[in-house]
Amino acid sequence: MSTVTPSRRLGSHRLAAMLGSPDASRPAYAWLADSIRQLIANGRLLHGTALPSERQLVTALGLSRTTVSRAYAELRDRGYASAHVGAGTIAQVPGGPVAGGGEPLPLGGFGPHGGSRGGSDDEGTPTAVDLTCAAPSAPVGLAEVYQEALDELPAYIGGMGYFPLGVPALREAIAADYAARGVPTDPEQIVVTAGALAGVAAAARLLLRPGGVALAESPTYPNSVTSLRHHGVRVAAVPITAEGTDVEAVTGALRSSGARAMLCLPDFHNPVGTLASNETRERWVAALRAAGATGIVDETCAKLWLDEEPDVLPLAAFSRDVVTVGSASKSHWGGLRLGWIRAPHALIGALARVRMNLDLGAPVLDQLVLARLMQRSSSLAPHTRRQLRSTRDFVIEQAADLLADWRVRRPAGGLSLWFELPEPASTRLTAAAARRGVLLAPGSTFAVADHGLEHWMRIPFAQSQQELEWALPRLAEAWDEVRGRAPLTGVRG
Ligand SMILES: Cc1ncc(COP(=O)(O)O)c(C=O)c1O
Repeated sequence: MSTVTPSRRLGSHRLAAMLGSPDASRPAYAWLADSIRQLIANGRLLHGTALPSERQLVTALGLSRTTVSRAYAELRDRGYASAHVGAGTIAQVPGGPVAGGGEPLPLGGFGPHGGSRGGSDDEGTPTAVDLTCAAPSAPVGLAEVYQEALDELPAYIGGMGYFPLGVPALREAIAADYAARGVPTDPEQIVVTAGALAGVAAAARLLLRPGGVALAESPTYPNSVTSLRHHGVRVAAVPITAEGTDVEAVTGALRSSGARAMLCLPDFHNPVGTLASNETRERWVAALRAAGATGIVDETCAKLWLDEEPDVLPLAAFSRDVVTVGSASKSHWGGLRLGWIRAPHALIGALARVRMNLDLGAPVLDQLVLARLMQRSSSLAPHTRRQLRSTRDFVIEQAADLLADWRVRRPAGGLSLWFELPEPASTRLTAAAARRGVLLAPGSTFAVADHGLEHWMRIPFAQSQQELEWALPRLAEAWDEVRGRAPLTGVRG
């Protein structure tokens, strides 16, 4: 036994309600241990939560002391709980929660690791917070859906397991979602990929030759630009402002650059957060058509509305020609590593060939999981949406107080805030914040070509409130250092 302070406690009646009714076909201890294990694995019972005492649980569940003791012993043996002096039995994820799951942005100097590099001490207090990433954690219940998909797996095991275009059930679920969003889609128009970035890479190879030109708004999601460049494509930039896509500027840039394709992020643009109206979408596709360029529409953030569901149609509703890329990473979970491409029928054969030069298909089990998730809901889980809305508002409120000379618009969706700084100091601020354990991607990370963006800073809000509470005062202190001001106190908060 060791000593530890639990980060939260769970009452016996609350746990009893979460457990539901016992399974009469199994020994009671096995049912109890397994049900608690599922709650932990699914994230409903968080790592570090003190479980009710055995005596309390005996009363709440009407089970014998031996049954409850045996269930707790089983949880400890399997690494899902540990006993602590004074704190009783504490739920834990075997091996501890794994930090990470964020996007591998080009991180110039932060170290060799991709993904999130935040950390916490034994009591769950952060020791570093990674604000270079913006992705929500998995929805509650995901482990159960994996279990259901496992039960379905035997039907696939007799075959070779290669589905270069995707498992049919998932292609159907994705096509049905487009139809529900106002774009009738045949499952044959869908190719499942290992995420949206893989989709952008395949679309670029389909539409552009090495040496060709693509247009992208600046700022934009940087990994897509890097992917285009790796294919030998020259990426020309057109600015996007805090008001959103400027179709007149796009028209001019398409003409002057001779671009054959354009990377379009009409939905809660990463990082700016803007949502293009239907009218803008219509004018945008008209500009593409007039220039003979194809839109590579990245809809990764389309489901991330936070206030009210927007009344907009996918860009594909305005043009038969665009190639749309989608992702399960933000609407469901980044760990699925799944996305897709929706393309016109005429391009599917060529797209399939291009895709097979990159990889031969995504894993079957994860596709079965996503098909089930999408059949239930193609949208962000309501709990995740509520949490994101609250952390977005929290960061805005805190910034108004701690970073009073920064400016931001409250985005109606997405996962991050795009702050305007009063001076071009984003890279210096990033270095000062890193010294305090707050990792940031400076505005210039999101710039295409020579468009500096040193006046800008992206702050994601998909992190937990506890991490944000820890990071924001340290960020303010770093900002004071950059501005040459003495901080008011030591670390604020
Ligand atoms: C606009 C945009 N496109 C693509 C991606 C990558 O998505 P995926 O995880 O599906 O590859 C991201 C991830 O943040 C994104 O924001």
